[in-house]
Amino acid sequence: MPKASRIVKKEPTLILGIESSADDTCAAVVQDGKTILSNIRSSQEIHNLYGGIVPEVASRKHIEAIAFIVQKALDEAHLTFDDIDKIAVTVNPGLKPALLVGQSYAQGLAFSQNKPLIEVNHLFGHVYANFLQYKDQHTELPTFPLITLLVSGGHTQIILSTSPTNQKVLGETLDDAAGEAFDKVARMLGLGYPGGPIIDTLAKEGFEDAIQFPRPMMHEDNSNFSFSGLKTAVKNYVDKNVAYKSENKEIDEFMRENSTKDIVASFQEAVVDVLVAKTIVEARDLDVSSIALAGGVAANSRLRDLMGRACHENNFRLYYPSIELCMDNAAMIAGAAYHL
Ligand code: KG4
Ligand code: ZN
Repeated sequence: MPKASRIVKKEPTLILGIESSADDTCAAVVQDGKTILSNIRSSQEIHNLYGGIVPEVASRKHIEAIAFIVQKALDEAHLTFDDIDKIAVTVNPGLKPALLVGQSYAQGLAFSQNKPLIEVNHLFGHVYANFLQYKDQHTELPTFPLITLLVSGGHTQIILSTSPTNQKVLGETLDDAAGEAFDKVARMLGLGYPGGPIIDTLAKEGFEDAIQFPRPMMHEDNSNFSFSGLKTAVKNYVDKNVAYKSENKEIDEFMRENSTKDIVASFQEAVVDVLVAKTIVEARDLDVSSIALAGGVAANSRLRDLMGRACHENNFRLYYPSIELCMDNAAMIAGAAYHL
């Protein structure tokens, strides 16, 4: 009689991720580096008052929220600490006082629960957001080699990945990050913080070709970016044109509102044009067939639209995470940790 073969069923690996690099306190549970069982994010609204993140305030808010957010991530995944195999935490880059809260909490947890602790680079996490999906969701995931345009509040990079852990930065911003430029232009126009989503919405009502802002470094033969000059060009335009006052308050208000819409639409177009052009050139030069977007600015509707068109014209497959996975989150940290 033939021997019955024993099928050994592999237990899933459950990783609890913690992220606190900026103004979001996040915790998530991810199974086998792919399936999100829970993904909790608490945003600190208080920074809107200051027009940007105040690191010490962020740190204090993280301390208040972190235990609750971690417990919520476990509850939503219907798990307890005993079920978790490993703990992952963002170590850098980020705001030091903010990072420290997540790191100390994760270290304490790993020690008291006797679990291994995995340190994850925040940018590595953002790229990895493209490889995640929620339970019962079946989306097509990217394959390697992959070119990723990583655009966030602190970084703008073009990255070549040849495996989940092998990433090479091909180019990056020499000054402001794309998200930073969105935030600074919004602040200049008194629109609030964070500026990216506000500009994205407002730009839909403006004309993107109303003002010809510069496209910095667009045709230079490298993969670097620069957005500081563009920000200054917007400031000069605002100083020259928006300060105009007539005798009539209503006309002034009407003129101001409409020129603001055109300014943000034209500014956004300039940023997106550069991001798309440089990413496509890099993917073409390296003969890569897949492009991904990552980071907060990857939520931008115009970027998704124009990158989608450019990829279609040039025969590239385009991937981008859902809006909530573009923003800072802990699922990307727990997912990436599986491969480390
Ligand atoms: O990745 P993220 O959540 O945090 C960092 O690691 O920086 O990115 C935050 C940045 C902010 O600058 C925010 O204004 C920008 O992403 N952002 C956007 C949009 N949503 C968020 N920028 C343009 N369009 C958006 N829809
Ligand atoms: Zn980020």
